[in-house]
Amino acid sequence: MSTVIEDLIARKVFNNRGEETVEVDIITTEGFGRASAPAGKSRGKNEVTYYPQGGVDQAVKKVEELVAPAIVGLNASFQEEIDRTLHEIDGTKDFKVIGGNSAFAVSLANSEAAANSNGCLLFQYLGGQVAHELPYPLGNAISGGQHTQGKSGPDIQEFLILPYGAESFLEAASANSQIHRKIGQELGKKDTLFCGGKSDEGAWVANVEDEGAFEIASKACEEASNDFGFECGLCIDLAASSLWNGKEKKYVYRREKRKRSPGEQLDFVLELIKKHHLAYVEDPFHEEDFESFAELTRKTKNCLVCGDDLFTSDRERLARGAKLHAGNAIIIKVNQVGTLTDASETVEFAKKNGFAPVMSHRSGDTCDWHIAQLAVALGCPIIKTGIVEGARIAKINELIRIEEFLGDRAKMAALDRL
Ligand code: PGA
Ligand code: ZN
Repeated sequence: MSTVIEDLIARKVFNNRGEETVEVDIITTEGFGRASAPAGKSRGKNEVTYYPQGGVDQAVKKVEELVAPAIVGLNASFQEEIDRTLHEIDGTKDFKVIGGNSAFAVSLANSEAAANSNGCLLFQYLGGQVAHELPYPLGNAISGGQHTQGKSGPDIQEFLILPYGAESFLEAASANSQIHRKIGQELGKKDTLFCGGKSDEGAWVANVEDEGAFEIASKACEEASNDFGFECGLCIDLAASSLWNGKEKKYVYRREKRKRSPGEQLDFVLELIKKHHLAYVEDPFHEEDFESFAELTRKTKNCLVCGDDLFTSDRERLARGAKLHAGNAIIIKVNQVGTLTDASETVEFAKKNGFAPVMSHRSGDTCDWHIAQLAVALGCPIIKTGIVEGARIAKINELIRIEEFLGDRAKMAALDRL
């Protein structure tokens, strides 16, 4: 198979928020790959820079003028070389020159072009024979925090479902859909003005406080667990960097009209885990507070404590967290670090150090399905990708296809801590 890169095309397209983003096509002698970049709203401050000055137009120009001449003629099969070349062309640690999202689109388009040129699916190409485990879908059902502009929703950014007892991906996705639907019906009873509005990630937006959201989501999880005959766990992402006021050194819960010191935040989260049997808690503290993450991890059992803004998918930051046992799970968003090689190294490090890697979408996303393939290829036991909405369904449906493709070899991933 010839995997020599013959052409690279960059263009401006749109994500599900209608924001401009960059898309790249890579054409090899015998194949083709395409990828577009997602975008976050509650971004970690240690993420790479998305775009150079001048935004997406400049990014497209830079890919055409700087990246294409260096990449055309290389072999798409050598992913590490492609990604190293991207770092060399840029020359800054955080992709300020070409933009991290341009690096992401080139890197992912390249991996797909290599897989396609070799006549295989991306997960087979990257993961080989051992890649046959499906991730559990962690799906957002109620939005709050910055995802509802800090207005009508709860203070907590995401109320999510993890059907961790399911025996197949399809069953797991079905449970999530039922729970999402049920939560929508119940929100309609609680909020008389609710008319089915959803956030970027397809989670409901209603005039409800944290407590009300917990009550409705807990009940829906319990009912679905009974109906389906397996555990559907309730989970939250506090996105606590968005709640943190660095001057006051307090977490500000606007809706609840309450502020919490780091100590009070720890007690609050511990209480929530206990009361609602939470299976997973993401970013319970702000992005520099490794110590509180460690303390919470020490004090909890049967609950994943996950760092998103804390680690920003960066191996060095994870190494710092691993030393302190700050958490036991890590969100992987490839565009937080720019390239597939960087993200894969973080996943490998996570697995070796007892952290569950959670492959994740962004709130601003496109209908690309790459993260579905990557979750299986890299052996991530969880994929965080919403329950409804086009950009989310693209990934869910791709995993249903992968499960079908694997047939008898398909198996749900092991989730040891739950
Ligand atoms: P994002 O955040 O808006 O930055 O994608 C989602 C998350 O915090 O997990
Ligand atoms: Zn998060």
